[in-house]
Amino acid sequence: MNFEERIRCNIIKNKVMSAEEAALLIKDGMTIGTSGFVTGGPKAVPLAIAERYKNEKIKLNLYTGAIVGDELDGAFAREGLVNKRIPYQTNKDMRNAINNGSVKFIDMHLSHMPQQIRYGFLGKIDIAIIEATAITEDGGIIPTMSVGNSPTFVNMADKVIVEINTSQPIELEGMHDIYEPKDPPYREPIPISKVSDRIGVPYIPCNPDKIAAVVFSDMKDTTLQLTSINETSKKISDYLIDFLQTEIKHGRLPKTFLPLQSGIGNVANAVLGGFIELKYNNLNLYSEVIQDAVLDLIDADKVEKVSGTALTLSEEGLKRFYTNINKYKEKIILRPQEISNNPEIIRRLGVISINTAIEVDIYGNVNSTHILGTKMMNGIGGSADFTRNAYISIFATPSTAKDDNISCIVPMVSHVDHTEHDVMVVVTEQGLADLRGLSPKERAIAIIKNCAHPDYKDVLMEYYERAIKKHGAVQTPNLLDEAFLWHTRYSNTGSMKI
Ligand code: COA
Repeated sequence: MNFEERIRCNIIKNKVMSAEEAALLIKDGMTIGTSGFVTGGPKAVPLAIAERYKNEKIKLNLYTGAIVGDELDGAFAREGLVNKRIPYQTNKDMRNAINNGSVKFIDMHLSHMPQQIRYGFLGKIDIAIIEATAITEDGGIIPTMSVGNSPTFVNMADKVIVEINTSQPIELEGMHDIYEPKDPPYREPIPISKVSDRIGVPYIPCNPDKIAAVVFSDMKDTTLQLTSINETSKKISDYLIDFLQTEIKHGRLPKTFLPLQSGIGNVANAVLGGFIELKYNNLNLYSEVIQDAVLDLIDADKVEKVSGTALTLSEEGLKRFYTNINKYKEKIILRPQEISNNPEIIRRLGVISINTAIEVDIYGNVNSTHILGTKMMNGIGGSADFTRNAYISIFATPSTAKDDNISCIVPMVSHVDHTEHDVMVVVTEQGLADLRGLSPKERAIAIIKNCAHPDYKDVLMEYYERAIKKHGAVQTPNLLDEAFLWHTRYSNTGSMKI
């Protein structure tokens, strides 16, 4: 490790300390804002905090970019250190703590969070803990594999702890483009009109006086475990590609294509992977997360430019990325989540959004967050930032879950994240429903016929027809008591099947 290369700012060289010493800066009741968006979260400092305070049971508010590793979410949840958690998580222990009521979780659109912090809506940030590749001569923090909310945490925090991760290659420098918009009434248009536009600086500006501690670590990121492309995701992806090609044929999509966004998780990764068969070689991605499938597309020479806030790779993907970092660096720009997910830019670029649903109802409302309407899965993440503002908004889901015992197409979603007004296309392995220009009753027919699993098609159609029989051809025919019984049937019998 070259110390001079990692800390280039002379006045903070004497602030290097152990993770245990840095942990002493944390006090009961503080709000800490950390880097991290699957990758790029601090590791040694959170573990030291969890160890230091495990018997004192202090309470902290934990704000992050999005998903952070088990060293943070897991360790803090197991020690009962978290009062409030914002805005997204996927950790098993954190999820349990949220669903047993010991952690107050605010599920928030990812693009909203930084501005709400600056507006003062979420309280004061006491300490930012940021994983870095290096610190520049002026105190600028060069992030690692993600940017997330780090610029705003650094800007708004009283003090900053920088965790320099020497396992992260110095070549990451130059990948990031850091820009923080001004707040109203001084906000100006964000000057991105192409995916490749760079508008900021390659480090997070930070007054060196704010840096209270620098800790060295070499702990690796926890990687995503992605399942390989299976028959279901292959079919979903085939339907989608066919749909997009037809859109081009009919002149509803430009021949040059438009930037793609692809959501998080197995289904999204597998669906994007299918785009390798697309005949276009100049794809652009304006996305939030950059999963393994993007590396496949780059390797297949299909990609012009990729913009996102985080590299969220599997272990194998991470190895590939590090081995060919200079090649990928030419193609990828990492931005703050306020910019990667910004509605103004998404609408200007005409992004085609592809996100995953937990369930979709026959009228096109989507639940992305709650299992059976009550338990938090992960959070809404950036799905609505993209969906509401996309050129074409698409939701993909297998038609069933839990060995076909749950239908992902339901009469009425048990929780709404995306309303019928925002959802243009629904696709499952059964087929695709293009909802654009359809009234609710037309949508119901299209979704049931094209997307529902054969085991559930008849019962959904029967529900719809009985709702019309009871209420007449009202705007949105529903049988409220039955719509909710549909969900409780699984809890009661282990299957939604009749
Ligand atoms: N009812 C009950 N459980 C369901 C379900 C349903 N209708 N649909 C899916 N599930 C369960 C699956 O069985 C699986 O459970 P397991 O972990 O016990 O195996 C789990 O939910 C995840 O499903 P999977 O099919 O593996 O999907 P995924 O990994 O692609 O994740 C979401 C799907 C919706 C949870 C995920 O995409 C998400 O968190 N989305 C919200 C945030 C977002 O969209 N961000 C996008 C911007 S990047």
